[in-house]
Amino acid sequence: MAHPDRDWLRGLPKAELHVHLEGTLEPEMLLAFAQRNGVPLRWSTAAEVRAAYAFGNLQEFLDLYYLGMNVLRTPRDFAELAAAALDHAADDGVVHCEFFYDPQGHTERGLGFAAVTEALLEGLTEAGTRRGVTWRLIPNILRHLPEEDALRMLAEAEPWLKDGRLHGIGLDSSERGHPPEKFARAYAWARERELFRTAHAGEEGPWEYVVTALDELGCHRIDHGNHALDNPEVVARLAQAGVGLTVCPLSNLRLCGVPSLDVHPLKAMLAAGLRATVNSDDPAYFGGYCLDNYVAVTEALGLDEVELRALARNSVEVSLLSAEEKAKHLAAIEAYPSR
Ligand code: ADE
Ligand code: ZN
Repeated sequence: MAHPDRDWLRGLPKAELHVHLEGTLEPEMLLAFAQRNGVPLRWSTAAEVRAAYAFGNLQEFLDLYYLGMNVLRTPRDFAELAAAALDHAADDGVVHCEFFYDPQGHTERGLGFAAVTEALLEGLTEAGTRRGVTWRLIPNILRHLPEEDALRMLAEAEPWLKDGRLHGIGLDSSERGHPPEKFARAYAWARERELFRTAHAGEEGPWEYVVTALDELGCHRIDHGNHALDNPEVVARLAQAGVGLTVCPLSNLRLCGVPSLDVHPLKAMLAAGLRATVNSDDPAYFGGYCLDNYVAVTEALGLDEVELRALARNSVEVSLLSAEEKAKHLAAIEAYPSR
C-alpha cells in the first residue's frame, strides 16, 4: 500500500517541540533584514546564501547560524521572524509549537534581553492568536560559553520564567567538549524553581551526554538523543521512563552523521518503545519544516499510519500543554480519518 501522502500528514494534528527561531531565518529574510539594518553580507542573492549552506558538521553549521543571527537588530526583526515561524508551523498542520531561542547570541551583540524576548513574544502572540496555534518559548543556554554567562542569562530571564511568559530552559550549541554537567549549577537553579528542563544531547556528542543530561541536569526531555542508541541500557532506561526525544531527521542528515534517511533510526526508536517525535530544528538551514520532515521519513522509512499516529501522540504527550489540552489533541489524533 502507498504510504500516507503530504496532505494526510498535514491534516494529522501534531506538536512541534524542537525548532530554533533563529534557525527559521530564511535567506530572503536574512537579505531583507541585512538591507534594512545596513548590515554588510558577503551574499547578495538568496541562491548565493543557500549555496553557502554547505556545512558538514555541527560547528560549520553553527558558524553560519551565528553569522546569520547578526542581521537581527530591531524588535521589528524579532517579531517578524517569530510570526513567520508560527505561520509556517500552522501551514504544516502543527497545532502546538515549542520554540527555542538563544538569548546570549543576542545579548553578546549588545541587544537587550528584555527587548529581544518581548519582541519574540509579541510576534508569537499575534500569529498564534490569528492562526489558533498554541506555543511556548524556551531560552537555551549556549554551551560553548562559560557557566557564569548562563547564570547571568537566567538571572535576567527570571521574571519571565517566574510568571510563565517563558517556559523552562534548554541547552544548545557546540556539543563536543561541552558536556551537560558543565551546566549543573544552571540546571540546579532551574530545578529549585521547578522549571521545565531540556537539553540537546547525543546529537554529535556520545550517549554518556544523554545520561548526564538526565542524571545531573534532571532533564524532562532530550533534544535529538540519537547517540543513545549506541547503548542498549540507555535505550531501555529512556523507554522505561517515557522520556521524550525531539528527533530532527533532516537536520540529522547534515549534522548527525546519518548518511541517508532510509537508514535513519526513527523507526528503530519507535520499535524500541522510545517516545520519539519529529521536528525541524533549523528549517531554513536544513531544507525542511515540520511537515517536510514527516513527509521525508514517511517516504524513506515507509512509515505507516500506526507509526505516524504514534509520533503525533508522542509529540502531544511530551509537550508542555496542560492535561486538558493534551486530551483534546489526543482525541483529535484518534478521530483523524484514515486515508
Ligand atoms: N543551535 C541551533 N541548532 C542547533 C543544533 N542542531 N544543535 C546544537 N545547537 C543548535
Ligand atoms: Zn536543535
